[in-house]
Amino acid sequence: MKSTKIISLTVIIALLGSMLPTVRAIAPPPPKRFAQRQANIERRIDTLLARMTVEEKLGQLQQLDGDVDGSFRAEHPDLVRRGLLGSFLNVRGAKRVNELQRIAMTESRLKIPVLFGYDVIHGYRTIFPVPLGEASSWSPVDAERSAQIAAREASAAGVRWTFAPMVDIARDPRWGRIVEGAGEDPYFGSVMARARVRGFQGADYSDPTRVVACAKHFVAYGAAEAGRDYNTTDMSETTLREIYLPPFKAAVDAGVGTFMSAFNDLNGVPTSANPFTLTEVLRNEWKFDGLVVSDYESVKELMNHNLAADEREAARAAINAGVDIEMVSRLFNKHGAQLLRENKVSMGTLDEAVRRVLRIKFRLGLFDNPYVDESREAKEIMSAEHLRAAREVAARSLVLLKNERETLPLTKNLRSIAITGPLADDQKNLTGSWNADALNKTEGIVSVLAGIRAKTGAETKINYAKGCEITGDDTSGFAEAVRAAQNSDVAIVVVGESAEMSGEAASRSSLDLPGRQLDLIKAVQATGKPTVVVLMNGRPLTINWIAENSPAILETWFAGTEAGNAIADVLFGDVNPGGKLPVTFPRSVGQIPLYYNHKNTGRPPDAKNKYTSKYLDVDVTPLFPFGHGLSYTQFSLTNLQLSAQRIRPDGRIIASVEVENTGRRAGDEVVQLYIRDVAASVTRPVRELKGFERITLRPGEWRRVSFTLTPESLGFYDRQMRFRVEPGAFKVIVGTSSVGGLEAGFEVIQR
Ligand code: GLC
Repeated sequence: MKSTKIISLTVIIALLGSMLPTVRAIAPPPPKRFAQRQANIERRIDTLLARMTVEEKLGQLQQLDGDVDGSFRAEHPDLVRRGLLGSFLNVRGAKRVNELQRIAMTESRLKIPVLFGYDVIHGYRTIFPVPLGEASSWSPVDAERSAQIAAREASAAGVRWTFAPMVDIARDPRWGRIVEGAGEDPYFGSVMARARVRGFQGADYSDPTRVVACAKHFVAYGAAEAGRDYNTTDMSETTLREIYLPPFKAAVDAGVGTFMSAFNDLNGVPTSANPFTLTEVLRNEWKFDGLVVSDYESVKELMNHNLAADEREAARAAINAGVDIEMVSRLFNKHGAQLLRENKVSMGTLDEAVRRVLRIKFRLGLFDNPYVDESREAKEIMSAEHLRAAREVAARSLVLLKNERETLPLTKNLRSIAITGPLADDQKNLTGSWNADALNKTEGIVSVLAGIRAKTGAETKINYAKGCEITGDDTSGFAEAVRAAQNSDVAIVVVGESAEMSGEAASRSSLDLPGRQLDLIKAVQATGKPTVVVLMNGRPLTINWIAENSPAILETWFAGTEAGNAIADVLFGDVNPGGKLPVTFPRSVGQIPLYYNHKNTGRPPDAKNKYTSKYLDVDVTPLFPFGHGLSYTQFSLTNLQLSAQRIRPDGRIIASVEVENTGRRAGDEVVQLYIRDVAASVTRPVRELKGFERITLRPGEWRRVSFTLTPESLGFYDRQMRFRVEPGAFKVIVGTSSVGGLEAGFEVIQR
């Protein structure tokens, strides 16, 4: 019998309030005042532009990099003094930044502040789960919270521009940068893009604790052929508009201040010199008025693409297409004046690029408040509050892939636990790729071994044995690991990839566990002891044997500074896992690309019929599907209701379902709403995610969860590339993964 208890509205608000970032979100400025502020900024830009020389204008378009430790190079101060260096990459640290800023503000002719950018991708020094891990929380609130904390720490170090969020859709796990994004789905990626932009920027990024964000890499970088980083991309405009552009548009709608063009060529035109994407779509269709920075030397690389015969042509192609700032290569500065003289670049184009750079500096408040408060660093960096948030976000990002015979959660008073695997006592890999100021630093990082020791008491004996390395053929450590398991009540094996096996320039042709880790798991499991596999990885892996034979599997990705504590919280049940996969796990690398929102084909897979779309040697279904994730409790979905049976093309429809916690423990479920356009003028996916909500329910508690479907939800690009909702039958599917769920139908009728 369902309890009639429904969480009161005040309780929901209180719950959401407790989960929101520790710093109260700033209310957006009233529209009128915002418009006045923008008009004032434009006037100040006009005044400044009129005074600038060509060299000073080109200087604003130049970005140079400092060393990985944050220091600047010998040539930099003088370039700043001469107004020839508008922004930095990597240079950071309050004192250092103020030293350079003081030169700009007191010694240069026009006193234009310098902008300091850095790859604050998933934390500055307090590191949160890698973005693919954080996305697994299916919690935009968590994503916003971690981005806000990252902004607080970065801005305390003088960084006011982050080259994040990376919003590239990735359907190919061979591609190492799948780790940096929110996975394979455009709707989901759009929701997470909005949340992260809001987290970094707040409602007004002139707030000195905020940073301006950067939607990257524009565009379709994740569609690299064969999953090989930097490789060519080629697709229909329909695929571009329906799969790869939406998260970037979502970032623009969220007010993102900057974009980064990409390395890849798209349909034959490199994205760092692509007028269609950089001007037609970004400027003309989306009305984006921020700045575009190239990727690292991607302007110079136009020659490698054989688009540009020489440096001058590369500079011309990039700036005329819509790139404003050149990252690290110096072709704009080297050839700009001559391109102007030869009328290959107009002064109007140059002025527009400079205007956009100055606009972001004004919006950041840098002209009026150029210096960073040096007292903030010590207070903000790795504060107890930030570490607590890192632990909470990490725990909510973990995905319970399998849990047979209630192997998990473990009880805390176990007599003995064997902990093995190359990542069990590891610290340096836990922060994953793009770990910002935590690079090569391990202090403060909690390993799984340390987290479990802290969680269990003196009465629990921990038998640790590494067993093997991540890579290599050495199995000499197996015997010790087997003995540890034999002498324990339960065995935990922590395996996966090293951090540098994902991220930039880290594609893999295989998705198997590297080295002899699988053999280690088999040896430990052969002892007959209950074995828990903890995965640390930057991409989906083909863990077929483990999925078949291991009783419990916890996907932790690279969970950040507090990984060990968060993983222990989940292993021992202090946190009930509620994460879901934002990417598909294939059975074989041969299935790639494999994603849930695929087309049905004319001969959909049918094991009983030879002549259908399938393989001879592997099942066509995924090992673990998009949206999959288990809990220590159970939930039921019933009573799917639609607010109408028929709607007009411009109409809306509400789908609602009852969710009940039928288990014995409180927990989170992610309710997912999919649609299917049953018949349309172009083929449509078998299902498309159009809504989701992570909810918390106590045992026996139930709640009705509602989703509103709008024309934006139901529309697609037709044969004439018009976005429209076509009349016809639609299905609504509500479930807890991209497989199965409750179904209902409705119809869109002609006006
Ligand atoms: C890199 C990456 C980009 C990063 C930039 C600056 O090559 O592609 O994501 O923001 O260079 O580090």
